[in-house]
Amino acid sequence: MNVAVLASGVGSNLQALLERVHGREGVSIVAVASDRVDAPALSRAREAGVACASFPVGRYRAREARDLAMAGWLVEREANLVVLAGYMALLSPSFLLRFPGRVINVHPALLPAFPGLGAVAQALAYGVKVFGVTVHFVDEGVDTGPVILQRAIELADAREPADVLARLQEIEHDLLPEAVTLIARGAVSLDPVNPRRVLIER
Ligand code: GAR
Repeated sequence: MNVAVLASGVGSNLQALLERVHGREGVSIVAVASDRVDAPALSRAREAGVACASFPVGRYRAREARDLAMAGWLVEREANLVVLAGYMALLSPSFLLRFPGRVINVHPALLPAFPGLGAVAQALAYGVKVFGVTVHFVDEGVDTGPVILQRAIELADAREPADVLARLQEIEHDLLPEAVTLIARGAVSLDPVNPRRVLIER
């Protein structure tokens, strides 16, 4: 399975994928793309010898044109799974049509609670005692696609977003590689009776 990773920021999840899934069980990370020219994730890709490119929206006439250019580049690299690892822009429907059912995302909250930007700040402001991470398929909504894996952590006295995010990222670095490995094994499917439900064969 050829994996493409989209990342806007630091790229710690990309790093986890490079270390835990790249080159194992027939999985290769073949491309890393970003909407930001200066994303540190791109340097991680370069260091690992993985093809990388940036697609800042300002270089195109609109977001959709950018997304189509990015999809074309990923198709050229023969990617057949796209992993959003801290990719902070919404993908156009025409991008998703190039990879039907083959785009997944990691989100630092227990969806459907706290979708979108600032999930940890939203959860802290709400006063929750249990936080968590979701890996889900991407559809046209904001963090609304079927849930593949979730893991919770109780942090009853949490106050600082940075502290919570650090704990959640430890979970992300396990859960995202696990999801990619399960997909590569063909162990992930949608329940035909309720396609919101993701079935996992272990
Ligand atoms: C991750 O914590 C990821 O869950 C979050 O961005 C961070 C990226 O970290 N994504 C979202 O909030 C998407 N809505 P990283 O660049 O170190 O992998």
